[in-house]
Amino acid sequence: MNEISQPETMRGQLTRLAELKQSTRTDHQSVDDMVMAMAPFDSLENYKRFLRLQYIFHSTMRPLYVADDLNQLMPGLADRSRYGAVSMDIDDMGCEVPDFRSRQDIAQIGMARVGWLYVCEGSSLGAAFLLKAAAGIGLTADFGARHLAAHADGRGRHWREFVDQVNNLALGKNEDEMVRDGACAAFEFFRNLLMVEAARTADTQSHG
Ligand code: HEM
Repeated sequence: MNEISQPETMRGQLTRLAELKQSTRTDHQSVDDMVMAMAPFDSLENYKRFLRLQYIFHSTMRPLYVADDLNQLMPGLADRSRYGAVSMDIDDMGCEVPDFRSRQDIAQIGMARVGWLYVCEGSSLGAAFLLKAAAGIGLTADFGARHLAAHADGRGRHWREFVDQVNNLALGKNEDEMVRDGACAAFEFFRNLLMVEAARTADTQSHG
């Protein structure tokens, strides 16, 4: 699906973003499939499981959004974080704040962080579909599903600004590889969250 168009080539080559999208296509498909397998919008209980994962992801990402060096490279980055919104959703839903320490380390320095940010920012595109589905169980951009809401500037425009920022970073070949590795690691992180949650649910169900 490619409803939000973006220039895919620059100087006759794939842009950094188009390349990232291409190289993580199967990673995306697998998290998409696993999220759908959770049936997060079939019931509030299922949604709360999904929300837990989103909380863990966005709270893990928070230090990257507020990093000084990244904000200098990408002005406005700190304001993009959806950590505040997902925390309010946790509150709306009366969930306990997940106490989670991942065994997988998130990149703390270097350009791999841009890859992690790509995955987190990109997930706000799919969120358009998720927000529609969330309406079916009574959740909205103002209650319970705030973190899936579009930015006030519009989802597409907000994304394209990020795309431009990333495409315009002056990076060497090694740094570009780090960005790609970071994106793969971020998808892997989310996939692990989904697997742990699936095992937890299966365990709860088998023990009544
Ligand atoms: C059921 C769950 C999901 C669905 C249905 C979904 C759907 C989509 C769709 C339709 C787009 C493309 C939008 C467009 O180009 O107009 C997209 C983009 C993206 N999604 Fe997802 N998504 C899901 C979950 C996730 C998750 C959990 C993550 C991250 C952990 C994620 C990361 C991304 C990224 C990085 C992009 C940007 C791709 C690009 O254009 O470069 N998605 N998603």
